[in-house]
Amino acid sequence: MKVFAETDRLILREILLSDKDGMYELDNDPLVHKYLGNQPVSSITQTEEAIAFIRKQYIDNGTGRLAVIKKDTAEFIGWAGLKLVRGSYNNHTNYYEVGYRFIQRFWGKGYATEAAQASLDYGFDGLKLHEIYAMADTGNTASKIVLEKIGLRYIEKFDLDGDEHDWFKITREEWENRKL
Ligand SMILES: CC(C)(COP(=O)(O)OP(=O)(O)OC[C@H]1O[C@@H](n2cnc3c(N)ncnc32)[C@H](O)[C@@H]1OP(=O)(O)O)[C@@H](O)C(=O)NCCC(=O)NCCS
Repeated sequence: MKVFAETDRLILREILLSDKDGMYELDNDPLVHKYLGNQPVSSITQTEEAIAFIRKQYIDNGTGRLAVIKKDTAEFIGWAGLKLVRGSYNNHTNYYEVGYRFIQRFWGKGYATEAAQASLDYGFDGLKLHEIYAMADTGNTASKIVLEKIGLRYIEKFDLDGDEHDWFKITREEWENRKL
């Protein structure tokens, strides 16, 4: 089992099929999906397929979304990490995006910020990326706060399937300057 990053309170490791109960709790929650433009899952089979899809990205791209494990209890609390986006969003293709999604009872404790920062550090330090992007529904205040706290810059608004979204970016130089 590959561990990609560790923080004070969290471990970011590859997502395993054994995470399916936690992943199902996450993706079955309508509130979690409020700003994601998709529907909550309604069967464990859909969750198993989602895990298989993520695990294929590790093989194809060397990285992907990672399970976030709370160190003190060993619980799966959600996922965070980088995804190589092959499709086109806001006129960008083949770029790395930072993202995260947490089980509702773990919101508001700073875990998203901590895991997102570790994901960014892995991208610049481990993968030697030059820039990392992110997007969030304009109404998704919590997510936008997380992105700005870890140093991403708001660039512009764009339309995604009829919903207004905010586009964010951080360059390697900006990331390095934050460490000084
Ligand atoms: C987005 C998400 C990961 C944030 O998780 P979280 O646990 O609340 O994140 P954190 O605790 O690290 O920080 C969130 C910040 O937003 C603030 N915040 C949360 N909800 C807010 C709201 N409705 N209005 C204003 N601020 C809000 C928090 O106070 C916190 O800021 P602070 O640290 O300065 O107090 C979580 O809400 C989630 O999983 N949502 C569903 C999936 C999703 O939307 N993912 C992002 C897609 S772009």
